Amino acid sequence: TKKLLLDVDCGVDDAQAIMLALGDPNVQILGITCVHGNTTVENVCKNVLRVLQACRKLEIPVFKGADKPILGNSLSGGNFHGEDGLGDAPDPGAPGLDLIQEENAVSALIRIVNENPGEVCLVATAPLTNLALAVRMDPSLPGKLKGLYIMGGNTESRGNITVCAEFNFAADPEAAYVVLNDFQCPTYLACWEFTCYSQLPWEFCDTWLGQDSDKARFMAKIFRHGMEEAKKESTQNECLGCTGFVSCDSYAMAAAMDDLFITESDQYPVSVELTGTYTRGMMIVDTLGLLKKTHKAVIMKKVDMEKFKKMMMAALK
Ligand code: BDR
Ligand code: CA
Repeated sequence: TKKLLLDVDCGVDDAQAIMLALGDPNVQILGITCVHGNTTVENVCKNVLRVLQACRKLEIPVFKGADKPILGNSLSGGNFHGEDGLGDAPDPGAPGLDLIQEENAVSALIRIVNENPGEVCLVATAPLTNLALAVRMDPSLPGKLKGLYIMGGNTESRGNITVCAEFNFAADPEAAYVVLNDFQCPTYLACWEFTCYSQLPWEFCDTWLGQDSDKARFMAKIFRHGMEEAKKESTQNECLGCTGFVSCDSYAMAAAMDDLFITESDQYPVSVELTGTYTRGMMIVDTLGLLKKTHKAVIMKKVDMEKFKKMMMAALK
């Protein structure tokens, strides 16, 4: 059994990633910590509970974390995820926030990893604020992780929220900097360009959502708005020639779930630009080794897409 701990800003692709993990009987989710990002941290908490309810897994503990970045204010996530983060689809039966644990997300992160030393894969599909705060409170934390899987950053200086930066890093560059520099554990990055190059055809999406299950109907409902936005964007060719379906956060999750998922990768020291006229939040890939950092991150280049399709299908069964 794989033990996963998830840190999310539950937009639509976080929901898809969570459902991916929930769909695998060999995965145990120890907890889900919430952070600002695609929407407010309160909405993120609500959204995670809605996903767990749709999957009948409300027993998984959910924790509320940071409501803004280390510096400055939250970045608006754009229109893709809707105002509420899950496509603004009405959900009158949604569970109440009283189900959120009293313990703060950052404390929970530290506690859960310390209770399972060497066993936890931490999957972060959001701005990295909670992780940065956690490593400041407990510097021994990274050394106790089995692996850290992040959706975030970019490798070709192409942004999706600013000219040069990917959303999760742009939403808290200082936190991304702390995490990439202080988490000296096996680190796997699903960066923005890679996710775009790993798109699935829209026809797959139709088959995926067309499954006769409550989970598929739930996903179709929360994804309707995002799908329209994505299709508009791809005709405008805004997404690296992306003409298909990209579930960014799901690639980081799949890599944590299956050690053979990544089929090709690069290994380089990485960091984040904190200033710059246009480049704040952009990931730095030190291909020449000039930063003199010993720790290298695994940057995903190719993954097993046939396996990915099977995992995605199983998630909505
Ligand atoms: C990332 O930002 C969010 O919009 C998505 O949920 C994903 O984590 C993509 O840049
Ligand atoms: Ca996310």
